Amino acid sequence: MAVFEATCSAPVNIAVIKYWGKRDTTLILPTNSSLSVTLSQDQLHSKTTIRASADFTSDRLWLNGIEESIEKNKRLVACLRETRALRAENEAKDPALPKLSGLKIHICSENNFPTAAGLASSASGYACLVYTLSHLFQLPLDASDLSVIARQGSGSACRSLFGGFVAWEMGEKADGSDSKAVQIAPETHWPDLQALICVVSDEKKGTSSTAGMQLTLETSPLLQHRIKEVVPQRMESMIAAIKNKDFATFANITMQDSNQFHAVCLDTYPPIFYLNDISRAIIRIITEYNKDGVKAAYTFDAGPNAVIYAPQQNMAEIYAILSHFFPGASFDNPLGLLKEGSALLPLPSTFDTKISPVFPQGSVKQILHTKADDGPRVLDTAQHGLLNTEGLPKRLA
Ligand code: DP6
Repeated sequence: MAVFEATCSAPVNIAVIKYWGKRDTTLILPTNSSLSVTLSQDQLHSKTTIRASADFTSDRLWLNGIEESIEKNKRLVACLRETRALRAENEAKDPALPKLSGLKIHICSENNFPTAAGLASSASGYACLVYTLSHLFQLPLDASDLSVIARQGSGSACRSLFGGFVAWEMGEKADGSDSKAVQIAPETHWPDLQALICVVSDEKKGTSSTAGMQLTLETSPLLQHRIKEVVPQRMESMIAAIKNKDFATFANITMQDSNQFHAVCLDTYPPIFYLNDISRAIIRIITEYNKDGVKAAYTFDAGPNAVIYAPQQNMAEIYAILSHFFPGASFDNPLGLLKEGSALLPLPSTFDTKISPVFPQGSVKQILHTKADDGPRVLDTAQHGLLNTEGLPKRLA
């Protein structure tokens, strides 16, 4: 019997203009547009195999080797329903197409980064799910069309359907058909833009994005100002900065937007805190580093981890500064930032090390070096497939 199967991978994205607030919580329609950079799948990705078979008796899902309920997950059900409906339409138009829309499927998905690291996995996860479904069902959709479906899994997932620099246009329509991701520029446009992800130690489980953003929408007057005045103007300036490869403007808007996102969290009632003392020290360190000209930008999502964007030529210096304040952070050097056997760069002579104490070993657990890169990839199932011949995960947790 023919096996219908697809395996794909999808990247993480980190917003430089943040999405925070929904005008429709079922369709996941945002209250403002947002913009992100897609990070390399060579460092961080989700990978998903989906198989459709007449032998399967129910739809099943395994996430990182653990079976999870599909029915309880309304967002996942929505992504399945949408893609199956499109497949069914195509099958009705072309009787030669195998009837996949009626078959049960097994979905197996893994992230190559530990969930414990506190890095958001819903963006790459849902982008990967929808991209893999579109390949399995051979849907003739472009990445923007797919982003409309992935958005219903997790808002930020819509931006992971493209590589490079990606805007999520909030749209106006009630059905969400114009709330989609568009590529502002491919990764090749600005190849020296890189990122350092600082995995900050934090035991507490914070407020989820989904719950936090709706509490902000209900209670924060500052969010209304952000939605009406600040974001529309920032989107325009940010798009121009990216097109012109104007790092100073890109960095200033990135930092100001991260600050305002955390300000609306503080303006939420009761307040939400995502930054901790280590996050705030990173803000001071980058501010000091930028005092004679903007050389790096920090941004923080709904947690204490920092992402630092900077041109490649500044990365070794930034890494040396971070290592001074945060000793003991592990670093795996995938882009060859540290030459074997060579010492760390000295701190810039004008850098005032008194702006922050040196933190205890392990305060920053890990520093990941990565860069802007491409969108989802189709993988060879024979080599990369996650399901065995029975259609069960090759690896269980
Ligand atoms: C702070 O996309 O995780 O990372 O749509 O409810 O799944 P849901 O939320 P999610 O929120 C991301 C919030 C953010 C900002 C951003 O990525 O733009």
